[in-house]
Amino acid sequence: MNILVTGGAGYLGSVLLPKLLRRNHKIRVLDIGYFGLGHIKFLLPQLDFIREDIRRIYKDSRFRKDIVQDCDCIIHLAAISNDPSCELSPKLTQEVNIKATEALAEIAKRKNIKFLFSSSCSVYGKVDGLAKESSPLNPLTLYAVSKVKCEELLNSLSNDNWRPVILRNGTLFGYSSRMRFDLVANIFSLYSTLYNEIKVFGKGEEWRPFLHVSDCAKAFIYFAEKKELKYNCYNIAYKNMQIKELADIFKELKPSINIIHTKDINIDKRDYRVSIERMNEEGFLPQIDIKTGAEEMMEAIISGLIPDPESIYYRNAKWLKELTHLGKKDYKEILDLMENIKRIHSI
Ligand SMILES: NC(=O)c1ccc[n+]([C@@H]2O[C@H](COP(=O)([O-])OP(=O)(O)OC[C@H]3O[C@@H](n4cnc5c(N)ncnc54)[C@H](O)[C@@H]3O)[C@@H](O)[C@H]2O)c1
Repeated sequence: MNILVTGGAGYLGSVLLPKLLRRNHKIRVLDIGYFGLGHIKFLLPQLDFIREDIRRIYKDSRFRKDIVQDCDCIIHLAAISNDPSCELSPKLTQEVNIKATEALAEIAKRKNIKFLFSSSCSVYGKVDGLAKESSPLNPLTLYAVSKVKCEELLNSLSNDNWRPVILRNGTLFGYSSRMRFDLVANIFSLYSTLYNEIKVFGKGEEWRPFLHVSDCAKAFIYFAEKKELKYNCYNIAYKNMQIKELADIFKELKPSINIIHTKDINIDKRDYRVSIERMNEEGFLPQIDIKTGAEEMMEAIISGLIPDPESIYYRNAKWLKELTHLGKKDYKEILDLMENIKRIHSI
């Protein structure tokens, strides 16, 4: 298939691209490159990479047509992709997460292109029991609200001829060449490796559905390649787990670590676990457990595979804030500098 991947240079996209290429798909990527492109430099010659702001899709009709030219499928990942980053600029969040999604979906519908949207289980916010896809949504943050709005507009565009697919992904974990250390299992990997210590807010009783980044990438491929789908929305997760259980896994992997329960200053009130019945019924089964993902990340840090792992570069909100502060400069100049630093590290 000819597939357009938006946000393909991100944490998830960087794992997805080689998998798509392995399956002989022809790939076009649209990404602004907020987190640089050095980590996918070996993939670039095999791709049609367009470094551009996705907002151009609703600003420029010529660009809108060109970007979907000859496409059979769109995997739409580009977004301001977590709670604190969205809070930095509600306007940017509205434009990138919602307005651009709307424009992209409209042209996909007009050209009858299959459309997969990367939503999040955080749309459930706080729930008792297992959240099913049909359960009421309770988005608690601007980020989750933006995902709910996109789902609503996709559902409103959906008809018998064009049915977009919504994957509500769990909290991702695991190694990617574009690492993120602002996701809970990844943060635990970083701190248990570097400081022998992890911090849990309060009792750590909040639930999260977890999913390895590689399984998430496989889910997109599975749903892109599958011809007939029963539903238009799926929760995608490996396992629901409380944060304190997650901490125990790290203790098992490295018995010397201290688990510190801090005062519950966590303003994050999200607490959700999800049903994966639909996903299983459709035939998709994630494979990688948290222990395996945690080991892989801890060893990647120890091996120096992730240069300067404490850099704000790996934390979306901090990095985006820095880009904004330095906004008077051309951000591409800063990113090129980052890429050079990474290259020097890898020599
Ligand atoms: N990481 C998770 O735990 C998780 C869980 C559920 C859903 N998701 C969703 O999956 C998708 C990918 O997540 P991720 O973790 O890879 O995020 P990420 O932040 O690592 O990647 C997002 C990519 O989008 C690009 N992007 C941002 N704004 C853009 C713009 N204006 N124009 C073009 N490109 C732009 C960035 O440069 C980046 O490469 C997002 O939609 C996210 O909301 C992620």
